[in-house]
Amino acid sequence: MVYLTSLTFWLALALLNRSLACSYFEVNTSLPEGKIMGHTMEFDRYYNVFDSYFKVIPRGYPHRLYNDTNDTACGSQTSSQGSLGYVGIEFADLFGDGMNEEGLIIASQSLYRSQYQKCNPCSKHYKTINIMQLPAYILSHFKNVPDLKWAIRHHKICVVNTDKEKTSNLHWAIADKKGNSIVLEYIDGEPQIHENYVGVMTNDPPYLWQVDNLNTFAWLTADANVTSQDLRLDTGNQLPGTDAVPKNWGHGFNMGGLPADASPPSRFVRMFYTRQVSQLNSKPQDMPEFMALVQGILNTIYIPKGFTGVDPSQQVQSDHTAWATMRVPSTGFYAFRTYANMQWHVINTKLLGWNQAATLNVSGSSILDSFKDITGDLPQNQKTARTNFLAPVQRHEGDDSVFLQHEEM
Ligand SMILES: *[C@@H]1O[C@H](CO)[C@@H](O)[C@H](O)[C@H]1NC(C)=O
Ligand SMILES: *[C@@H]1O[C@H](CO)[C@@H](O)[C@H](O)[C@H]1NC(C)=O
Ligand SMILES: *[C@@H]1O[C@H](CO)[C@@H](O)[C@H](O)[C@H]1NC(C)=O
Ligand SMILES: *[C@@H]1O[C@H](CO)[C@@H](O)[C@H](O)[C@H]1NC(C)=O
Ligand SMILES: *[C@@H]1O[C@H](CO)[C@@H](O)[C@H](O)[C@H]1NC(C)=O
Repeated sequence: MVYLTSLTFWLALALLNRSLACSYFEVNTSLPEGKIMGHTMEFDRYYNVFDSYFKVIPRGYPHRLYNDTNDTACGSQTSSQGSLGYVGIEFADLFGDGMNEEGLIIASQSLYRSQYQKCNPCSKHYKTINIMQLPAYILSHFKNVPDLKWAIRHHKICVVNTDKEKTSNLHWAIADKKGNSIVLEYIDGEPQIHENYVGVMTNDPPYLWQVDNLNTFAWLTADANVTSQDLRLDTGNQLPGTDAVPKNWGHGFNMGGLPADASPPSRFVRMFYTRQVSQLNSKPQDMPEFMALVQGILNTIYIPKGFTGVDPSQQVQSDHTAWATMRVPSTGFYAFRTYANMQWHVINTKLLGWNQAATLNVSGSSILDSFKDITGDLPQNQKTARTNFLAPVQRHEGDDSVFLQHEEM
């Protein structure tokens, strides 16, 4: 038996309260580079254990596969070394997002309704893998989606959740540089592999429901000219500047009724229609334009702190978009930004050596880190003293409003 230290106690508590409302989508570029993947991670931070770390994991790195709080004999000894190096963002022992040197990518997202397999961690016929360790295992062992599908279908992998709380249950979007893309879910104790034809994934309910639900929004149209002349009635001079209703004054009515809330079904629908309609009316021509579209879709699903509120039934305090990534599996492009610092941090993974681990703390980055002061490019009053107006200044007693005010340098 192992006694829980206070850290593992808090960690265990935090895991019970985990909730990852996340969004994943792909954009087919029709360029040789293939697909770009956008992914956001939403979760709240408990007891500071949910800080996120960008990591480089070298080839041959030993991974734990299964870790029960009871440390059962074969459970604690189950580990594996994969031959592939990868990068990703890890928090509380889970790679929420990652890409390996072969261009296999994964996105971990909540699916509360998951039910995992019944496994014997001591079995010699398969590996028992806890959901928290599954992304690292996949990234370090599989070069492409077909190889992973084969392993799952031939029962080489048995997946469990050692934490019994439903709020920690996960499903995964997995894709490779050849364009293969699947959703892996565990429903009713069995793995389900869905081809991700629509290239979108969020959270509950399970994936196929979300795909079917797109039909519910079939009225949405790419055509901006949505008002029908047949419905029009005269309104005399009642309304200054117009003589009839309804008329198309302004833009955007073609997207009227597109759900704007933060729920998983709404984010699914919003990503799908934003991507489809935007590309139809304004097809990006090159990678920077496609990346700008990916960034634009990421912006539509961004969740500010507090927006989703407290949900006691799910033990959720409030989700927010802690970070987002943009990936191009075929070129090894990996980029992330955080909740407050929207500057993309870009890694050319093709240049990495894959022989040494590295870690960057991506939590706590401030909006100040993303500001670019361009005052110097503008004509200035030579008589005023130069000021550092971006730095937080000393608070004066009784003054609550001094942030971003002038400070003599
Ligand atoms: C851990 O061990 C205790 C005592 O042997 C047992 O009651 C409990 O069910 C075990 N928990 C798990 C998750 O296996
Ligand atoms: C189990 O997980 C905890 C928390 O991540 C870690 O501290 C511990 O070393 C792990 N135990 C084993 C046997 O791997
Ligand atoms: C991307 O292209 C493939 C192959 O043409 C197609 O099957 C898939 O539905 C497309 N995905 C998206 C998200 O457009
Ligand atoms: C918009 O619709 C009106 C009738 O509803 C039609 O007269 C007009 O030509 C349409 N404009 C375009 C750009 O399609
Ligand atoms: C990571 O950054 C957060 C926020 O600044 C900080 O609270 C945490 O202690 C850091 N983690 C480590 C291991 O330094």
